[in-house]
Amino acid sequence: MTHNNYPFERMTAPLLSWYEENARTLPWRSDPTPYHVWLSEIMLQQTRVEAVKEYYHRFLASVPDIATLACVPEERLMKLWEGLGYYNRARNLKKAAGIIMEQHDGIFPSDYDSILSLPGIGSYTAGAISSIAFSNPVPAVDGNVLRVTMRLSGSDADISSPRLKKEMEKRLKPVIPKECPGKFNQAIMDLGATTCVPNGAPACVRSESGAYCPLSSMCEAYNKNLWSSIPYKSPKKPRKIQDRTIVILEYENRYSIIKRPEKGLLAGLWEFPSIDCHLSPDELDKRLEQEALSIESIQLLGDAKHIFSHIEWHMLGYLVHLKNNPDCLTSVHDMTFATRKELSELYALPNAFSFYQKQLNE
Ligand code: ADE
Ligand code: SF4
Repeated sequence: MTHNNYPFERMTAPLLSWYEENARTLPWRSDPTPYHVWLSEIMLQQTRVEAVKEYYHRFLASVPDIATLACVPEERLMKLWEGLGYYNRARNLKKAAGIIMEQHDGIFPSDYDSILSLPGIGSYTAGAISSIAFSNPVPAVDGNVLRVTMRLSGSDADISSPRLKKEMEKRLKPVIPKECPGKFNQAIMDLGATTCVPNGAPACVRSESGAYCPLSSMCEAYNKNLWSSIPYKSPKKPRKIQDRTIVILEYENRYSIIKRPEKGLLAGLWEFPSIDCHLSPDELDKRLEQEALSIESIQLLGDAKHIFSHIEWHMLGYLVHLKNNPDCLTSVHDMTFATRKELSELYALPNAFSFYQKQLNE
């Protein structure tokens, strides 16, 4: 490997001087404690930098350290994460905090393997924490870094293959500077986010905005004009489509919610009751009759779509006004009735339902 590691072996110095001038100002960079770096990296795994900033500040204000995280009540944790999606990230944070309290005396472990063994932490995140917070010379290959390195080496292999990430980690490792591994890794991340961008042309030479790439002279994709075909990704299989009818029962301005199962999609979060197909107003009427509910009126709320990574929900929503107190439902169906205010302040209701939540009365 070391005898042919071009162009990686030449990238370090130009990349670091580029970073001196072009590093982004990001909240977690001003005080990179292991906890700060960890939290930011978990939030950034599936969410854009701009969106993460606000969540990051709010989370830290409420959960300032690992000890607090280990004891944070589940509902409050979900509420803090509401809108970020991929809620298991938050559950794993808390789980890992518990392990750190019990097995590491409350101190974030500094060696790579202990970090990697924590829940929710894979090789990318372990590398990021290790290098940024502890200055260990280990690579951190995420999507941005993979794109940059694939272009640098001119490889049009399919980036969905896990083998490639391993290969790039192996090629980066020997060129990480011992003095500043965190800077090196974040420099490639920033280069990928601001210059060697995923959609549209990368700024290989100086563009109008002033962006430029310090690596163009050694970049295979630039030199052979291949940037538009690298990285190559084989077509994904289409997402599964699920039809759902969302049925929000209302009585005296309180709305029905139920808790999702503890496993699977949106595990343990609250949702409006639903039926796994599309029902016309008449069909819904019949269903509700079977439940022996006395109905004042049924209001159509319209359709909405929500896209998850492997599933799409195609929803049709109804608001059903009840005549009588729905106490019987709360015992039989494990259903709760909450005011609009409680829905926004107390219960973690995933983004998927926001189209319907917005239409409810105060
Ligand atoms: N994306 C994920 N982590 C990042 C970091 N530390 N800096 C820049 N971009 C990132
Ligand atoms: Fe990306 Fe262009 Fe730089 Fe190559 S020269 S790494 S394609 S921005």
